[in-house]
Amino acid sequence: MKKLRCLRLGLTAALAISLGGATSFAQSRLYEGEESAKDHPWMNSKLSADERAEMVLKELTLDEKIDLVHGEGMPGWAGKVFPKAYLGNGGAGFVLGVERLGIPMIQMSDAAYGVRSSADNGRYSTALPSNIASAATWDPQAACEYGALIGRELRAQGYNMTLGGGTNITREPRNGRTFEYLGEDPILAGTLVGNRIKCEQAQHVIGDIKHYAVNDQESGRNEVNAVIGKRALQETDLLAFHIGIEIGNPGAVMCSYNAINGDYACENKYLLTEVLKKAWKFKGFVVSDWGATHSVVKASAAGLDNEEPEDIDYGEPLKKAVQEGKVPVAELDDHVRRVLRSEFASGIVDYPRKRSVVDVERGLETSRQVAEQSIVLLKNDKGVLPLDRAKVRSIAIVGTHADEGMISGGGSAQVDPPGFSAPAWKAHVWFPTSPLKAVAAKAPGMSVRFASGADPAATAALAQQSDVAIVFVHQWTSEDFDLSNLSLPDNQDAMIDQVASANPRTIVVIESGSAVTMPWIDKVSGVLEAWYAGSKGADAVANILFGDVNPSGKLPMTFPRSEADLPHPREVIPSPSMLGKAAVMATGEAKPTFEVHYDEGLKVGYKWYDAEKKPVLFPFGFGLSYTSYSYSDLKVKPGKQSMTVTFTVKNTGSRAGAEIAEVYAALPADAGEPPKRLVGWSKVKLQAGESKEVTVNVDSAYLSIFDEASDSWKMPPGSYSFMAGGSSQDLPLVQNVTLK
Ligand code: BGC
Repeated sequence: MKKLRCLRLGLTAALAISLGGATSFAQSRLYEGEESAKDHPWMNSKLSADERAEMVLKELTLDEKIDLVHGEGMPGWAGKVFPKAYLGNGGAGFVLGVERLGIPMIQMSDAAYGVRSSADNGRYSTALPSNIASAATWDPQAACEYGALIGRELRAQGYNMTLGGGTNITREPRNGRTFEYLGEDPILAGTLVGNRIKCEQAQHVIGDIKHYAVNDQESGRNEVNAVIGKRALQETDLLAFHIGIEIGNPGAVMCSYNAINGDYACENKYLLTEVLKKAWKFKGFVVSDWGATHSVVKASAAGLDNEEPEDIDYGEPLKKAVQEGKVPVAELDDHVRRVLRSEFASGIVDYPRKRSVVDVERGLETSRQVAEQSIVLLKNDKGVLPLDRAKVRSIAIVGTHADEGMISGGGSAQVDPPGFSAPAWKAHVWFPTSPLKAVAAKAPGMSVRFASGADPAATAALAQQSDVAIVFVHQWTSEDFDLSNLSLPDNQDAMIDQVASANPRTIVVIESGSAVTMPWIDKVSGVLEAWYAGSKGADAVANILFGDVNPSGKLPMTFPRSEADLPHPREVIPSPSMLGKAAVMATGEAKPTFEVHYDEGLKVGYKWYDAEKKPVLFPFGFGLSYTSYSYSDLKVKPGKQSMTVTFTVKNTGSRAGAEIAEVYAALPADAGEPPKRLVGWSKVKLQAGESKEVTVNVDSAYLSIFDEASDSWKMPPGSYSFMAGGSSQDLPLVQNVTLK
C-alpha cells in the first residue's frame, strides 16, 4: 500500500510537470489562494449565497457542471492513478473549481478529532480528545472550541472542507466508530455536533455531518440493510442529524455506505429528498461516503449531489444521462446549485485558501482543556482521589505504554502523532503524551515507578510496595472494525485484578472508544474514564488525579453490565459469503446481502435499560465530582413554544466544581414512548457552598413524537413528568404537568 502510494505520487508529479498547461496553471493559481476574480457580479459578498450561486449556475457549461458534482480521486484510493491528482492537497479528495468564474477548488480532509494525513504531507495536527469524549463534556462551548480548532488547522494546511461531524447514534456500542460519534442521545449528540459545525464553518471551511444515516455498525457496512420503523428512525438517528443541521447549518451531509429499509443511503429518496431537503429544508449538498455511490439515475433522482472520491457514476455516465434526457437538466442544476451555494455560504470564495503554520501551543491548550472536561470519574471509594500530596509517598504506574503515551482511535479519523510517519491502516497509534511523565511531574519528591504489566509477579510486587497503584488500560477501536465484546482486550482484566489484589488503593484509568465491562469494579478504589484523550491526555489525567482540576464529565452513553443486556446480545455480522457483493464502488446491481433489524425501535441506550428494567454498570449521564451537589425547588412553567424548567443546584462540598444538571421528561402514558428522555441540561459552575437557580428551556419539539399517519411531529396532550438531577438514574426532583 505504501509502495503503491509512492509510485502514484511520483507519477502524478511527473504528470503535473509535463501537462503544465492552461488548466493546471489556472487551477494552481486558485490552489495557492491568490485573489479570485473580484469583478464578477457574484463576487459581491452583500448578496445572499443563493443569489450568488444562481448567478454562477447560469454561466456554466455542461462540462463545468459535471466537474462540480464529483471528486478527482484520493491519494492511494484503490491503487488507482488519478490524472488530476497533482491539483490535490493531500487530503481525502477534491472537487475542481471554475477558474474563469473565480470558483475555487474544494479541498477536503477527514477531520474527526483533528486533521488527518499530516505525516504524509509533512504537516502537524492537534489531536483533540475523541468525539465521544467531547460529548462527555455536555458543553456546547467546548464543542464550539473543538470545531474552531479543527477549522483553523484545516485552513492552515490548505483545506477548505472538513469531513468530520460524525453523528451516528450509539445504538450498538460494539460499533468500532463509537469514538467518532457523540453518544446515545439524539438531543445531546445533535446539540453538540451543531455547535461544533457552527464554529468550524466560522473559520471558512465547508462543514459536514455524517454518516447519514443508521450506519450504526461497521461489520458489513457496505452490504447491510438497516431495517427500522419510520417513527423509530425519525425519533432516534434522524433526530440527532436534524438538530445538528439546524444548529450548525453544515454545507454538506455525507450519505452512508449502508442501505436503510431497502435502498442504499446515497440513493434513498426518503432520506435525501423527502426528509433532508424537503422536510428539513437543507440547502447544502449531499456528498457520498467514499465509494458509496451505486447508480446514476436513481442516485440523482434520490438527491445525491456529489460523488466521492471519483467520477464513476457522476462523471461521463451522468453527462450522458443528462444528454439523453434520463436525468433532467433541472435535477443536475439542483446538484450544482447546492455545491455552489455551500461554497458561498461558508466563505470559501470570499476567503481563498492561504496556508499558515498550525498554532501548536494553542492546539495543545484547547486539547487539554477539552480532555479535562471530558474525563468521567466513575468510582471514588473512601476518597482515594484526588491524590493527597501530604500523604502519598509512592505511586506505581502500570500498563502497557503507560510510560510512553495514550491510545487513539483509528481509520479515516486517525490523526498522525508528531514524530512518526503515517501509520498503516488500523495500526494501534499511541500519542506521545506519557502518563508516567505527567504523574511524575505532579509529584516532586514522591517515588513514581512503572511496570508494563507484562510480568505479573513484578507488577504485583511494585503495586504492593506503593501507596497507590494507577493502572492505565485501553480498548482500541477503529473504522472498518467492530468489537466482538466490551471486555478489555489482552488480559487487562486479569492485570487489574492482580494489581488490586496487591493494593486495594488501585485506580484504573480507562482509555476507550466505547463502554467497557468491569469485572474487577468491586476490587478497585477509583475509576476514571479518559476515552481517547488526545495530544495532551496525560496532563489532563494527571490534573484530575491530583485535584488540580475537579472532574465534571458525564457519560454520554450507558455502560452495560454485560453484552447480554444489550438490545442485541450478539451483533448481527455477515458471513464471509455475504461480503464484497455490494462492495465499495460496485455499481448498478449492488444490493445489500443481509439485514439488521433495529427492533428495539425507540429504545436506544438508556431508554432500553429503563424500559426493560435492566440494571446497568454506569448509567447515561453519570459522573462523580470531588465535591457534591444538591437539587431543590423544581418549577415547570408551560409556555407556547417551550417549557421553562427552573430549579436550584447547590455545591454542598468543599471545592469549586461544575455540575451538569440534567432534565428529563416522561411523556403521557398513551404516547407509547420509553419511560423518559433527556430534554435539556445546564452546566453550572459553583464555588464551595454556592447555590444557583438554573433555568432550562425545553423546546416543545423535544416533547414531541413522530406520527407516522400524518408524517409529522406532534406533542401529545396529557400528563408529563419533568425530572431534574445529576444522572439519568439520580433525579431527585419531579413535577407533573398536564399539557394540552
Ligand atoms: C469513511 C468516511 C471518510 C471517507 C474519506 C470513508 O471510508 O467512512 O467517514 O470521510 O472514508 O476518508
